[in-house]
Amino acid sequence: MFDIPHLDLPPLRGAAGRVRLPGSKSISNRVLLLAGLAEGETEVHDLLGSDDTRVMLQALQALGCGLQRDGAVLRVRGLGGRLQVHEADLFLGNAGTAMRPLTAALAVLAATQGGRFTLRGVPRMHERPIGDLIHALRPLGCSIDELGQPGYPPLCVHGQAGGRLQTQQPIRVRGDVSSQFLTALLLALPLVADAAPVVIEVDGELISKPYIEITLKLLARFGIAVQRDGWRRFTIAQGSRYRTPGAIHVEGDASSASYFVALGAIAATRSALRIEGVGSDSIQGDIAFVDAARAMGAEVQSGPGWIEVRRGRWPLRALALDCNHIPDAAMTLAVMALYADGPTRLTGIASWRVKETDRIAAMATELRKLGAAVNAGDDFIEVAPPARWQAAAVDTYDDHRMAMCLSLAAFNPLAGANPAQPLRIRDPQCVAKTFPDYFETLFGLVQADPAEVPVITVDGPSASGKGTLAAALARRLGWHFLDSGAVYRATALAAGQAGVALDDEAGVARVAAALDLRFDGSRIWLAGHDVSDELRRESTGALASRVAALPAVRRALHALQLSFRRAPGLVADGRDMGTVVFPQATLKVFLTASAEERAKRRYKQLISKGIQASIADLRADIEARDARDQSRVAAPLKPAEDALRLDNSQLGIDESVDAVQQWWQQRNPLDRA
Ligand code: C5P
Repeated sequence: MFDIPHLDLPPLRGAAGRVRLPGSKSISNRVLLLAGLAEGETEVHDLLGSDDTRVMLQALQALGCGLQRDGAVLRVRGLGGRLQVHEADLFLGNAGTAMRPLTAALAVLAATQGGRFTLRGVPRMHERPIGDLIHALRPLGCSIDELGQPGYPPLCVHGQAGGRLQTQQPIRVRGDVSSQFLTALLLALPLVADAAPVVIEVDGELISKPYIEITLKLLARFGIAVQRDGWRRFTIAQGSRYRTPGAIHVEGDASSASYFVALGAIAATRSALRIEGVGSDSIQGDIAFVDAARAMGAEVQSGPGWIEVRRGRWPLRALALDCNHIPDAAMTLAVMALYADGPTRLTGIASWRVKETDRIAAMATELRKLGAAVNAGDDFIEVAPPARWQAAAVDTYDDHRMAMCLSLAAFNPLAGANPAQPLRIRDPQCVAKTFPDYFETLFGLVQADPAEVPVITVDGPSASGKGTLAAALARRLGWHFLDSGAVYRATALAAGQAGVALDDEAGVARVAAALDLRFDGSRIWLAGHDVSDELRRESTGALASRVAALPAVRRALHALQLSFRRAPGLVADGRDMGTVVFPQATLKVFLTASAEERAKRRYKQLISKGIQASIADLRADIEARDARDQSRVAAPLKPAEDALRLDNSQLGIDESVDAVQQWWQQRNPLDRA
């Protein structure tokens, strides 16, 4: 996850590969609540791990449900409809799918079994209406106090044990603001349907009907039959009881699928992009997004649990569509509209205004920054593609979907943007609401022109701290990191393992060319073994500097190092990153510190790991390595002519990173703008 203030995307030009979707948010939180209310244990498979599910899990735990993780499976021991805990203060973040149903369930439980529960969230949650749900519950005899603004969270629901609810009359709820109010009642009222059926009637035109279908299907899995008369009247059968289905699988998130369907439609020009976890058998309404994408020109095939998309018509076909049935995925259409052959008009989206942010206003503002002409009203948005694309820093409003949708604007070169424009996504970690690894997943699928992927090189002598600096800088920027020293170290190790003498140039070069090396966070794997610790040994460093002097070995490792230049960017450290491997790097840094200072640092490092060392020996070693690296014929250690020098003898690590980051900002068009 990118927990950084902003993430810069270079211009992107293609997409291919396979993506496995995280679990559906809507299904995950409904299943959790049902499992929490049911009697017995439910095994939940493929649950989404995200902010919204985390707050639901915390709430269930606070209410006394048993939760046990077992690899990819979560076991939920439910309450069987009986409160275990009668007082709790629940924080529900910005999760509408937790706030609405928990309010209904706890209001009903408190009114009949006694209790007092507070439900609150982040400031935006306190701006999202819940009045229609309160007005539906109060006539039943539920006590609900609004602790802030009337009609909005935070709320306190309370009651005395032995209370009875008035369920003889149909319960009326508005359906035209959010379908989550009806979902909340459908999920909660089986709790009081033992003696007589419970009838719910919807006032106004029900929006987002497919979400009600998900609710009904999941209720059925938990043994609750609801009779539906059109979309106006719902009857929960008398004697209803939540019964665990034993095990339940959460399918992939169909709304999340929309970003990858769009990605395929825009950028999968060579082969289809394959999406797994959701498909033609989905119970989620947003799967209908596929039809809208087809209408815009995407070529889509699907089967149970999978979708394959490739670009069909290009530019995309402009569309006029009522999106009432796909409110969330419709946001993706608004961004696809940037690539269409005329203005696209999306209607029936009034609910956008009460989501994580006012999505109509937010989308209009951000699409305009890219150069699009946008016209928006209470329940529609019309987007005409940019005549001239602009480099933009887009805001995301703490709204995961804004961030994920807008990332697709980085494909502007495919729409003829000239020059191709980079894109800044502010606050990228907001995707954690439903898709914590969204950007990592995206970067695993996209292609950029390497010349357009920014590179920062950090070269310098042994123990100058360049590895630490480069890794920290890569984290701050959200970029890839190449520790080229590790590549030489691994080559020396692999040669040793293969019994190849280190002065056998052709032999070591063959080992280098076949190197099976994998970087995984701070761990490094060679031929399937974790060699991180072995690689860092002083002795391995010395062997590395011997193989590194062999020109054939350097040539053999060249392509491997180049392959690290991938979106969104690369920080590479070594000896010849700026001079030989990435001579066109956007920023080159040459890091130095006195031999004495470097020996002291290495000494501290070793002692802290419990390894005996002497400063004098270390200094001699470092000086010998410097001499060998500087005097060798192949790619000798020296600063590139256009490198900026940084002597960090007197600087702490954060200060060094700050200095280099400032240099980068001076060159980055998105910072200079
Ligand atoms: O940076 P590190 O100490 O891990 O590098 C180990 C050795 O690999 C260095 O002493 C140097 O000889 C060699 N090396 C190189 N070119 C690079 C990185 C490392 O020659 N780009």
